[in-house]
Amino acid sequence: MHLTIISGAARPQSRSNTARIIEAFSEGIHAGGHTTEVWYLSDRRQWGQARSAFEKNENILFALPLYVENIPGLMLEFLEGLSPKEKPGTKMAFLIQGGFPEASQSRCCERFLKTLPQQLNCAHAGTLIRGNMFGVRLLGKKLGGRLVQPFTDMGRLFAEYGEFRPEIVSGFAGPEYLPEKQLRQMGGMGNYIQRWSMRIVARRLGCREKLDAKPYHEVSPVQRKQ
Ligand SMILES: Cc1cc2nc3c(=O)[nH]c(=O)nc-3n(C[C@H](O)[C@H](O)[C@H](O)COP(=O)(O)O)c2cc1C
Repeated sequence: MHLTIISGAARPQSRSNTARIIEAFSEGIHAGGHTTEVWYLSDRRQWGQARSAFEKNENILFALPLYVENIPGLMLEFLEGLSPKEKPGTKMAFLIQGGFPEASQSRCCERFLKTLPQQLNCAHAGTLIRGNMFGVRLLGKKLGGRLVQPFTDMGRLFAEYGEFRPEIVSGFAGPEYLPEKQLRQMGGMGNYIQRWSMRIVARRLGCREKLDAKPYHEVSPVQRKQ
């Protein structure tokens, strides 16, 4: 199999979690002697080649981060420029990864993506979902590497079956909703720890203001006098 992978991430390749996941996934594909080519939509200079790879090849995988429970606008713009394939036979698969742990976050996006292959005269080859990917780049090579390692197995299985099998995908997606007990633990002390770690993450991302700052908050004239 030769697989064309198109990353729908808006972040540049060097800073994108999707790119790191694609690397791990491709390792699994290559292990079986198969080949890949990857195009990054964050770099608009690659759009022409990505479009012709889509037209030419019969195995396509769109890998994308979840953005506000759906696909990034950048990827939507690219999809709008594609024309339906003249000949049937192309398989289109999708890999969605998001920051939140619950698989339910990605279900709306999954339903939308399912409508695309038919519009482009392709067959749907399944959707792989995985949450909890927020820290892939932030955690560094070793810990981030552990987060993406399971994608290598998924790549191997994808190459073997030529699609994402529903029984494999459902186990991989993780919890649909977090258990009540875990949600309760996130309150109280858990909440304090989360806020503390989010402050560290924000600082690493270049945030210099308080996380609960309200720069656009309107101050009433009465408050202003005080
Ligand atoms: C604008 C924006 C919206 C996001 N919306 C969601 C969301 O609805 N659900 C979710 O689980 N993660 C969401 N995330 C988190 C990203 O999906 C997650 O961090 C992902 O790993 C980023 O991949 P990238 O580095 O390739 O962009 C959002 C991130 C951004 C920047």
